[in-house]
Amino acid sequence: QKDGFRFFMEKEIYEQSDVVSDCMLGRIKDNETFFDEIDASIIEGIKEIKICACGTSYHAGLTAAYLFERLSKVKCNVEIASEFRYKEPLLTDDTLFIVISQSGETADTLEALKMAKNAGLKSLVVCNVDNSSMTRVTDYKILTRAGIEKGVASTKAFSTQTVVLWMLALYFAKEKNVIDNEVLQNELHALREVPKSLIVNDKIHEKTKRLSKRYLHGHGFFFIGRDVFFPLALEGALKLKEISYLHAEGYPAGEMKHGPIALADPELFTIALMPQNLLYDKIKSNVEELSARDSTICAVSPLDFELADDFIKTEKTDHYMLEFFEMLVALQLLSMEISIRLGNDVDMPRNLAKSVTVE
Ligand code: M6R
Repeated sequence: QKDGFRFFMEKEIYEQSDVVSDCMLGRIKDNETFFDEIDASIIEGIKEIKICACGTSYHAGLTAAYLFERLSKVKCNVEIASEFRYKEPLLTDDTLFIVISQSGETADTLEALKMAKNAGLKSLVVCNVDNSSMTRVTDYKILTRAGIEKGVASTKAFSTQTVVLWMLALYFAKEKNVIDNEVLQNELHALREVPKSLIVNDKIHEKTKRLSKRYLHGHGFFFIGRDVFFPLALEGALKLKEISYLHAEGYPAGEMKHGPIALADPELFTIALMPQNLLYDKIKSNVEELSARDSTICAVSPLDFELADDFIKTEKTDHYMLEFFEMLVALQLLSMEISIRLGNDVDMPRNLAKSVTVE
């Protein structure tokens, strides 16, 4: 049931704070993260992590790669499952193979997992559905506990996947003894705050409704960010594309000047993810360049930015990952409100299926 919400997607956006609390339940102790489903043997002899996934789950994987390298000090690369399958990948048994999937049934991801298993790699699936094809094939699994996700556009699956992967990065960091205790405490403190950051802020929801009136006429959208805010930009663009049918691209902000900035004009909306706690000055100068070329700028940030034509003001926090989750909700709401205003079926967008079980 939709419980009074207009669409399942809206309900699922509003549920994120609670499902992420469930997802963390019993998994954070005083000075470590912990999973019943795995033990330290999972990283014994591991020198590298390879992540494979599709769509939104791929974006969670890209986000995790920053966290695995930054916190766990393990080399990590991420591949789109459909590309991985046919590239004759070089696989070595010092690699932990992680697949991420809401459904556990996506054909390309499942086949990638089987390939890795056949090559003798240890495998882990981060999944929302127990007893799915992937959880049955893998060596290890971690469940995201998001509950059933009905909207085709993935929302709470992404936030729970990202939280699980962040906790996993800290688990590896602790097991490998590569994290300073003060840093670890700071990370754990931030993790505990995630459910708060995911509570829908009424003012932000109202703002996205207002912006949707003009934005539905946009002839193109850039979502830009740096570091983990780059995969978040990709996710924001994917949400807009799939439910609004508007053209949107996610870009690393520093790449704009290598080509895409040529498209800038007032009809091109740039959604700029400008976190206070990570590379603020760098992204600011990227956005200034776009503004100078007349792109319409919507800044998503806790800090005022005088060149912004529009503004979605997020809360000030002391950790970039909390900003990440605040901005995630804002982007989900923005695409949903544009889609509603266009009269689209938000939960069942055209041409899409919830689970892609064919390649
Ligand atoms: O079930 P999975 O996580 O494996 O699905 C992967 C993608 O098909 C999925 O994330 C898709 O991109 C969503 N519709 C995005 O909202």
